[in-house]
Amino acid sequence: MANSIEQSITDAVIARFHESPNPRMRQVSEALVRHLHNFVREVRPTQDEWGVAIDFLTKTGQMCDDVRQEFILLSDTLGVSMLVDAINNTCEHGETESTVLGPFYVQNPTEYPNGANIAGKMKGQPLYISGRVLSADGKPVANAAVDIWHSDEAGFYDVQQMDVVGGLAGRARLHTDGEGRFSCWTIEPIEYPIPTDGPVGKMLTEQGRHPWRPAHVHFMVGAPGYRTLVTHLFVKGNKYLDSDAVFGVKEALIREFPKHPPGKAPDGSVQAQAYSTLDYDFKLAKA
Ligand code: BEZ
Ligand code: FE
Repeated sequence: MANSIEQSITDAVIARFHESPNPRMRQVSEALVRHLHNFVREVRPTQDEWGVAIDFLTKTGQMCDDVRQEFILLSDTLGVSMLVDAINNTCEHGETESTVLGPFYVQNPTEYPNGANIAGKMKGQPLYISGRVLSADGKPVANAAVDIWHSDEAGFYDVQQMDVVGGLAGRARLHTDGEGRFSCWTIEPIEYPIPTDGPVGKMLTEQGRHPWRPAHVHFMVGAPGYRTLVTHLFVKGNKYLDSDAVFGVKEALIREFPKHPPGKAPDGSVQAQAYSTLDYDFKLAKA
């Protein structure tokens, strides 16, 4: 028979929230304590194990700075980011599906004109990205902001190797033209492991999991009157599509990145080396 505190502590804690002036705070606090206490009653940690849990969370916080967000990684690898995304971004009218933001987004990236090369000093095979931004019923959205970011041929983002690429690279903000079109040149991304040098990396090892994400390009697409879309397009055929470390893959976001020999590219330029293309029309939900 469990002792009485084990049973009574939950109601005793929840009772302290009754005077909260904020009903949402009260609801969230109650649910948090209920689930947390049930978790502890189920797992029955030893004092040492609880110490390990506190230490894990402490180290997760200590790992965070301006460019490293270990708590986002934790949320991503436990599938919580995709759960929050699923709750908040339903697509009922054929809009483009969303997925995780990830830790490598940079606010207000450098703006480039359509057609520009955004790769900077990043190395990789040339990739031409083009497409349109449309409303769910297929009307062009002019002047939409299209933020793009991706890894290089070694699987690193610019913010992970500022000393090598000398600043932001493989990252841009474009704006759609009057027909909703956007385009740029950059380089092809490759699969990469999420950062494993912190507590989340250790957690994955202990859970017997790999840290890899399938190759993808990130997009954040926004325009007044529309819900901001945070998504990726994944390279079809990549070996990690079925086991993404952060559960971000959706079938509709897997695309061909066809390869082309040197020669005339879709923007009329003549390419001296082989290149790939990615063409996609994003459909935005109304705000
Ligand atoms: C990313 O795709 O940039 C990413 C997403 C989640 C965790 C780590 C990286
Ligand atoms: Fe990524």
